[in-house]
Amino acid sequence: MDEFRKQLQVRLDTREQEGLLRTLKYTSARVDFTSNDYLGLARSQSLFDQIHHALDSFTTKSNGATGSRLLAGNTEYYESVEAKLADIFKVEASLILNSGYAANLAVLSSLPQRNDTILYDELAHACIKDGARLSLAKRFSFRHNDLEDLEAKLKRAEGTIYIAVESVYSMDGDQCPLQALVTLAEKYNAFIILDEAHSTGVYGERGSGLAVSENLHNRIAVRVYTFGKAMGIHGACIAGSKELRNYLINFARPFIYTTALPLHSVVAIECAFNYLQENIYLQQQLQKNIHAYRHAVQYLPNKTVSHSSIQTAIFPGNDHSKKVATELQQKGFDVRPILSPTVPKGSERLRICLHTFNTQPEIEALTGALKSLHALAH
Ligand SMILES: Cc1ncc(COP(=O)(O)O)c(C=O)c1O
Repeated sequence: MDEFRKQLQVRLDTREQEGLLRTLKYTSARVDFTSNDYLGLARSQSLFDQIHHALDSFTTKSNGATGSRLLAGNTEYYESVEAKLADIFKVEASLILNSGYAANLAVLSSLPQRNDTILYDELAHACIKDGARLSLAKRFSFRHNDLEDLEAKLKRAEGTIYIAVESVYSMDGDQCPLQALVTLAEKYNAFIILDEAHSTGVYGERGSGLAVSENLHNRIAVRVYTFGKAMGIHGACIAGSKELRNYLINFARPFIYTTALPLHSVVAIECAFNYLQENIYLQQQLQKNIHAYRHAVQYLPNKTVSHSSIQTAIFPGNDHSKKVATELQQKGFDVRPILSPTVPKGSERLRICLHTFNTQPEIEALTGALKSLHALAH
């Protein structure tokens, strides 16, 4: 046992020496510019009350699902929520998974077969890459949002081709060029897997995301929506055809071999989408704050351009980014550094998330502090 501990500690020490040791922190009382609670639903007292009220209305009390969906964990209610999600996402069928991570693993590990090819954006989330690793298909990344590079790889791809992209990228906040991507995919008979993690709730009628709002949904084979970000709750769903749903129920191990989400989570999913539908102005409120932030930092050279709630300020080098983040934290802003290797070396940054509940004075104070930190650094 001592030997085991020692081995682990050696690897932890190496991480620490590289300045990359991860530790768990408590959320702070600072102004939130870091969470994915873009629409403020996670902190909404009225959504909280609606979820508890809805839960109370169930006559059969249930604390846990007691098994996987294929065993004791399925209910008519579960399927009614899936039907509702399918309606929101304008698709034939949806299947709830326990998280976005599990949903991407489910899709990428089960659909592509041995002689197929997965092409994924180099900045795709870890769960897309992990899912592709679990598959027996060949896998290649293409340069971020670079359709020329993608086309070069499409020309050489074998078997059924899957292209895995995100509608909004989690580290840069930029969008994928969906329209052009769909056209390119169709030219090569490739199927798109679109992760809508950071667009669910934020865009589209009833929070239906980017593909629906751009009217491209019928041309995308598989869509993944997650509920732990703008929807403020937990879980995810995979949306597509009835055949896709049946296929996943049969072949997707992250769906088959896990205890289903408890009733509470499924009720929360239904209530969160109802709540957003009744408070759709939240989407405009968020856009207003994004616009105010973008306007305030327009002359800052070290930012990446994004129209989403995710903004970045690049301070190259892990130490530099950490130092700047600490200074902002001391000023009362909850802003976290994103270090390499999570992002490429030289593009270490602050990831700044904007929310409906960030006030104009808070946004002005943060952008003012960013400007002076940038001036000091250059
Ligand atoms: C693009 C993307 N996909 C999937 C996930 C995973 O979703 P979840 O947190 O629901 O597991 C994340 C979370 O960070 C993400 O950013």
